[in-house]
Amino acid sequence: MPPQSVLIVGASQGLGLALVKHYASLIPPSQVFATVRSSADDEKDKFPEGVRVIEKVDCSKEDVGERIVEGLQGVAVGLVVYVAGVLKPEKMGEANWKDQIMMYTICSIAPVFVVQSLLTSSSFSPEAKIILLTSEAGSVTLRTEGEGGGMYGHHGSKAAGNMIGHLLAYDLKESGIPIAMIHPGFLKTDMTKNAGMEEFYDKMGAVTPDEAAGPISEFVEKLDMDMSGKLWAPMGARGIGNAEEVLGKEVTKKPGPLELPW
Ligand SMILES: NC(=O)c1ccc[n+]([C@@H]2O[C@H](COP(=O)([O-])OP(=O)(O)OC[C@H]3O[C@@H](n4cnc5c(N)ncnc54)[C@H](OP(=O)(O)O)[C@@H]3O)[C@@H](O)[C@H]2O)c1
Repeated sequence: MPPQSVLIVGASQGLGLALVKHYASLIPPSQVFATVRSSADDEKDKFPEGVRVIEKVDCSKEDVGERIVEGLQGVAVGLVVYVAGVLKPEKMGEANWKDQIMMYTICSIAPVFVVQSLLTSSSFSPEAKIILLTSEAGSVTLRTEGEGGGMYGHHGSKAAGNMIGHLLAYDLKESGIPIAMIHPGFLKTDMTKNAGMEEFYDKMGAVTPDEAAGPISEFVEKLDMDMSGKLWAPMGARGIGNAEEVLGKEVTKKPGPLELPW
């Protein structure tokens, strides 16, 4: 059964937009809330008719949780997917202070405040579930010598995102709300294109955000309290560059969901 209402945080493009379209085809679009940074008028044409756009939600700002609660107008949500994220590549000698603050804020500070605001305002429905889009990039175990260093802010902020999701799972246990961190696969979106990763799409099994939305929604159906607080890959090892080297060949043959190591 799909959730009765869905909130997608960071819905203007890429995976967030694909998830809005996916859920608006499964449940009444009026039960799908999509947050954007700009104004609703600028963005509403890209969403299916009826989707409720919550405007001016900036995950680098302290009021992010309050703005979302205000935008829900009293509706209790059954699924929250925190998608907002930024990837600014770095290498030694060119680390960028401001970019790092932005990545950590959006990927590992804002999610705490979003969940806190939703919880303390009773904005979760009794069957609610939470998904945080982190990444296999935030797994220390999956980093290798061959891949090398760099990517300090991106990988570090995703590792921090995995940690805060794990901690939130303890806080949410009493309310019976599972929270999972997920790696969505390697996606053909502006994020990877702008980071110069387009040349690896074919070799590394990249998928479109629309293709990734289905496995994510199937994962949400399975998500229960035993799976809470962990890092998962709904599509299995596909799109995880170091999976075979670190986890072994067998893992590449298994279908998802695959639990990933920290
Ligand atoms: N692409 C991949 O291969 C991949 C792999 C692993 C994990 N992920 C994670 O999956 C998520 C979605 O990735 P994607 O490829 O769909 O990225 P994307 O196309 O670049 O979209 C990123 C989304 O985050 C929003 N966002 C950025 N900064 C924000 C802010 N300050 N406040 C609110 N929203 C903000 C963007 O809104 P604007 O349009 O306003 O900028 C956009 O909607 C990210 O968290 C990413 O790290 C992606």
